[in-house]
Amino acid sequence: PTVTVIRPDGARRDLAVAAGTSLMQAAIAQGIEGIVAECGGNAMCATCHVYVAEDWADRLPPLSDDEDALLDGAAAERRPTSRLSCQITATPELDGLVVSLPDRQV
Ligand code: FES
Repeated sequence: PTVTVIRPDGARRDLAVAAGTSLMQAAIAQGIEGIVAECGGNAMCATCHVYVAEDWADRLPPLSDDEDALLDGAAAERRPTSRLSCQITATPELDGLVVSLPDRQV
């Protein structure tokens, strides 16, 4: 699937994310600035925070308790559609997903 990432300055980039890999992994591999992922995808750092576009929020699997708790500690403002990109695993259904990056991760 292809996921569109919108930076805080409004610039958009399309990321090819292989099915079964996380959005965070694809973002790091393809040099997306603004995803830090200090913990390497173990749902421990909240530096892979993204805002999912509102029309997509209900189409993702729900938050785990760990993800929910971590998002409370994210550096940038938490919003209703905040997610950890390491916990979003690409599936064909997510083709066209749009996420925005917060203004900071640490
Ligand atoms: Fe650390 Fe996602 S990479 S919580």
